[in-house]
Amino acid sequence: MTRLLALLGDPVEHSLSPVFQNAALEAEGVDARYLALRCSGEDLPGLLRGIARAGGAGNVTVPHKAAAAAIVEAPSAAVRLTGACNTFWHEGGVIHGDNTDVAGAHDALRHHFGSRFEGGRAVVLGAGGASRAVILALDTLGVRGIEVRNRTVARARALVKALAPGVSLTELHAFQGPMDASLEPSVSLVVNATTLGLGPDDPSPYPVEELPDTVALHDLVYRPGETRWVREARARGIEAFDGREMLLRQGMAAFERWCGRPAPEEVMRQALRRAAAGEYEG
Ligand SMILES: NC(=O)c1ccc[n+]([C@@H]2O[C@H](COP(=O)([O-])OP(=O)(O)OC[C@H]3O[C@@H](n4cnc5c(N)ncnc54)[C@H](OP(=O)(O)O)[C@@H]3O)[C@@H](O)[C@H]2O)c1
Repeated sequence: MTRLLALLGDPVEHSLSPVFQNAALEAEGVDARYLALRCSGEDLPGLLRGIARAGGAGNVTVPHKAAAAAIVEAPSAAVRLTGACNTFWHEGGVIHGDNTDVAGAHDALRHHFGSRFEGGRAVVLGAGGASRAVILALDTLGVRGIEVRNRTVARARALVKALAPGVSLTELHAFQGPMDASLEPSVSLVVNATTLGLGPDDPSPYPVEELPDTVALHDLVYRPGETRWVREARARGIEAFDGREMLLRQGMAAFERWCGRPAPEEVMRQALRRAAAGEYEG
């Protein structure tokens, strides 16, 4: 019987996940289909539980990740710390939930930068779910200090309060000044975990002309043709990557939770590359 893997969220129409998850399932000979289902908050509990108990599994995306964290019966440590669940499956009679954005951010940062931020300091722009995931990832990569800057400072403070007990960072601060205030010379990485950059005309999350040459950028946002922030930084000779690698890596981690086997990285990477280039008609 074909297994249903569903992406639950709203909107879901433009998600690239069905493209690379279906490519992976096909390559691995798994009898399952991954479908994007637009669903309301009201319908989420019934759909998630019903799909999982029928032997299916899936992902949860905006705006339902926090709601899903409260629905799953066996949340992972990443779900408990971030308060967000993006992956669910049924195993041993219970619905499990994980937040593979944490593993995705970790693996993408490791892929792009290796271990060179160990003992270093970073600035994370934004204080939503993605920010929490990337902070946990930076913590496991051995980053020593993180300053969280957010338009709404109260949200950055709440994030620090929630995460501080669960991390080994020696410094985790909510920044009280403007998002684009200057960077301490010891900061070697700036991460964009805001939604700025999703639109082609969005302002930069941090002005590229103010960045020191030695800093590296990781933009969690991705869009066809790179984000403006990444393009402008590269034009200035600054090392910068968008969120596509994280998207791939969180998807690989989800595949592994659902199927209990390693994800076919090259198949998924190629499918994502084709989709991002607009060559895929799926
Ligand atoms: N690459 C990946 O795999 C991956 C995975 C997850 C998320 N993401 C991306 O990460 C981004 C954040 O996602 P999320 O789930 O954390 O979203 P979220 O929980 O809605 O948080 C959005 C963040 O963006 C800030 N923001 C929104 N509009 C802004 C503006 N005009 N100026 C300054 N700040 C603004 C918000 O600040 P306030 O608190 O002040 O509203 C908040 O900090 C999204 O673009 C998403 O696509 C990528």
